[in-house]
Amino acid sequence: RVTRNFIDNLPKAELHVHLEGTLEPELRLKLARKNHIDIGTDSLETLKATYHYDTLASFLAVYYSALDVLQTESDFYDLAFTYLKKVHENNVQHVEMFFDPQAHTSRKISFETVINGFSKAAEDAKKFGVDAQLIMCFLRDFSKESARKSLEAAKPYQDKILGIGLDSDEHNNPPLKFATAFDNAVSEGYHITMHADVDQVDSIDHIKQALEIIGVERLDHGTNIVENPDLVDFVSTNKIGLTSCPNSNQFLSQDMKGAEVKTLLDRDVKVSINSDDPAYFGGYINDNYWSITKNYELTQEQVVQLAKNSFETAWISDSQKNNYM
Ligand code: ADE
Ligand code: ZN
Repeated sequence: RVTRNFIDNLPKAELHVHLEGTLEPELRLKLARKNHIDIGTDSLETLKATYHYDTLASFLAVYYSALDVLQTESDFYDLAFTYLKKVHENNVQHVEMFFDPQAHTSRKISFETVINGFSKAAEDAKKFGVDAQLIMCFLRDFSKESARKSLEAAKPYQDKILGIGLDSDEHNNPPLKFATAFDNAVSEGYHITMHADVDQVDSIDHIKQALEIIGVERLDHGTNIVENPDLVDFVSTNKIGLTSCPNSNQFLSQDMKGAEVKTLLDRDVKVSINSDDPAYFGGYINDNYWSITKNYELTQEQVVQLAKNSFETAWISDSQKNNYM
């Protein structure tokens, strides 16, 4: 039997976490007070009672509205640094963190404010031995022109950004909408990944576009490929990483996709376990490992393989992988 202690002590990488999704109600309230922003209440209990969601769209509405309190570089720093301390407590050695610049530039916060706050926190995490990198996401419910501008805004900061991702509301926003932006991202030297949230409309079509046309190196979620044996062969042969997030899937789809993860492990797919938006889905990475282990009775070998997959599909050099594994 795998114990919680075994999970807590297992070295791991986290590849799917949204920095904006690490904004706990406590920090939100603190920043609201500091920045004199009206968030409708000054009570933590009342604020927590507004956190209702059971679908991707209803979750995103709460997630975006919470971001109003992030105003200054130090706010972005505090958000990321608070999360990075959790990363260390969870025995995560390497983390690749998503951020959503358009969610801030669209409310008149400069790209520079966001990237400077986040990247300084990543730099400071080195002090406790955490290697933290940033993945900039395009919001897929924004226009492709907005994505182009965001990639352009990133140019002066390219040394601080490891890759480009795609998140937000998938409905009617297929990967191909961003084909040019992702082509340009690859030409500029970025790694690329995309969300394929579980149980979305046209999910398998979207996954095919991401894998076969765009050529992503990883898929975020994407565990419903088990429906399609050709896609399972494709991701297994091409060592595409799938970043599964059990607690998030449970919240937004009422199914943590544990059976799918086990099938994918059996088929040699490089699936990993991650927290997605830990402030919203009831837990950080070790809580996610524990949820799936407990509910789906994973063996120690399976848990170790999940952690191994996280390093194997991380965007780090082979020598760095050998150091961690
Ligand atoms: N943005 C933050 N979390 C997300 C998720 N799970 N799916 C899509 N977009 C997101
Ligand atoms: Zn996500």
